[in-house]
Amino acid sequence: MANATRKPLISGNWKMHHNHFEAIQTVQKLTYLLHKEDFDDVDVSVHPPFTDIRSVQTVIEADELEIALGAQHCHWEEKGAFTGEVSPAFLAKLNVSYVICGHSERRELFGETDEMVNKKALAILKWGMTPIICCGETDAEREAGGTDEKVSGQVRAALAGISPEQVGGLVIAYEPIWAIGTGKTASAEDAQAVCAKVRSVVSEVAGADAAASVRIQYGGSVKPSNAAELMAQPDIDGALVGGASLVAEDFAGIVQFQTQSA
Ligand code: PGA
Repeated sequence: MANATRKPLISGNWKMHHNHFEAIQTVQKLTYLLHKEDFDDVDVSVHPPFTDIRSVQTVIEADELEIALGAQHCHWEEKGAFTGEVSPAFLAKLNVSYVICGHSERRELFGETDEMVNKKALAILKWGMTPIICCGETDAEREAGGTDEKVSGQVRAALAGISPEQVGGLVIAYEPIWAIGTGKTASAEDAQAVCAKVRSVVSEVAGADAAASVRIQYGGSVKPSNAAELMAQPDIDGALVGGASLVAEDFAGIVQFQTQSA
């Protein structure tokens, strides 16, 4: 948390977990566990599966919760013959604020390319939402010393055609693939080094102002016990949390990383 101007964003990526009943329960539990002052210091988003989004929206709006609604994916077109896909316009209509874009599971399991990630990022912005653009290297790429090259390439490709002002408002999540769902976390030092690299790429592509305001999350086995150390790094402005975000107590513990570590 380098900079007082960059409010940290802690995002819960629920992946394909929690049906809409479980989603409602989880959000209701979060409302007991999180207090008004927690939201003074940290922005919080939850990213349920598509089938839960309307239910979670209703709970958030009825209870006037400060939790932002997120999605995990979308198509780049507004409408058309794209069986099974979801339009960014439909997400905007549900008051979705953040959409994860180019998660490694989408890239590796569903063939999402850098070009598709870029088209999606542009579409998400067009519909007034904020993309959380993911990047990260595999274990083999890391062992071969290719982390910076992989991550820089993904970030450059994702930002193509996005104005510097818009880049400044984006969220980029550095998620080393070997750390996702494995219980292995990048050391705070290594995570910081790659997040600093991401910021330098943003500076090259979109200028110093954009680099100073873009928020960079770390993701990969973040839990209440390691959140504070990661978040203390100057170029880490938040966390994209998978497994630990499914359990309200754990996710709240991460959101409250400042008091947990005190
Ligand atoms: P994890 O997942 O926290 O379970 O490692 C992170 C993610 O994939 O966003």
